[in-house]
Amino acid sequence: MSDYQQMTAEEYGVYYARFQGKEPGKIILDSKVNVRDRVVLDLCAGPGYVGAVAAGMGASQVYAADVVDFLDKRTRSVFVERSPLKLKWEYVDPDQALFYRHINNLPIDRSLERTFEVIFCRQAINYWFAKDRMQALARCMREDGVFVFNTFVTAPPASPLVKSYAIGERDYVEVAYTENGLVHHVQAVSGMKPHITSFRYIPLAEFESVLPSVFEDVTCILDERGSSATYICEGVKE
Ligand SMILES: C[S@@+](CC[C@H](N)C(=O)[O-])C[C@H]1O[C@@H](n2cnc3c(N)ncnc32)[C@H](O)[C@@H]1O
Repeated sequence: MSDYQQMTAEEYGVYYARFQGKEPGKIILDSKVNVRDRVVLDLCAGPGYVGAVAAGMGASQVYAADVVDFLDKRTRSVFVERSPLKLKWEYVDPDQALFYRHINNLPIDRSLERTFEVIFCRQAINYWFAKDRMQALARCMREDGVFVFNTFVTAPPASPLVKSYAIGERDYVEVAYTENGLVHHVQAVSGMKPHITSFRYIPLAEFESVLPSVFEDVTCILDERGSSATYICEGVKE
């Protein structure tokens, strides 16, 4: 659950300035997945930071999908112009996308079956992960495709955790806590109304019980602090 719907790409950049600094290319580099000449999907793309880096690294085509179309015309052209190869940036119309319909419990259309060679889903899997949705996503991948996502390892405490900081002219307060398996995250920024998101806490054991039934090879890499996990899922099982 989230209320990203009301937000522009520029506002997203202000709210989540702290996370923007965390190199959108890191998930690509950490996974060591080659994107050159491959068809890439940035799933739950937000304003599409990861897809933009993939385009810059030589992906032959980059698609972005999100429940919100952050990629207004202006933003889209910025990404295309920044790409050294002037690659095409496609917005996957949520109404047309098979996996999107699945992850949002809508009737299915099969237009994107066996399309993507590499899919990245950064900081968003906790909004939608479930076995049937994972299977729907896998049907949109080439058989030798790779799905890469990251997630947090430990749930925030039951008692709200507060983090305060400043970036540029703005003061920020973040509050995060877990209630009944849901993580609630409040982003308060001076000059803006608070942005609240809620998503499921998913223990790594749950990923590890579902992913091997969908993919041939599943690798998990923990960061240095053990707080974030990156999964690399290769080869779609029939
Ligand atoms: C924390 S943001 C991450 C955005 C981007 N991946 C990044 O790394 O900057 C989570 C994104 O997931 C999207 N999202 C949440 N639920 C979704 C759903 N059911 N279907 C598609 N996108 C969804 C939100 O709109 C939001 O853009």
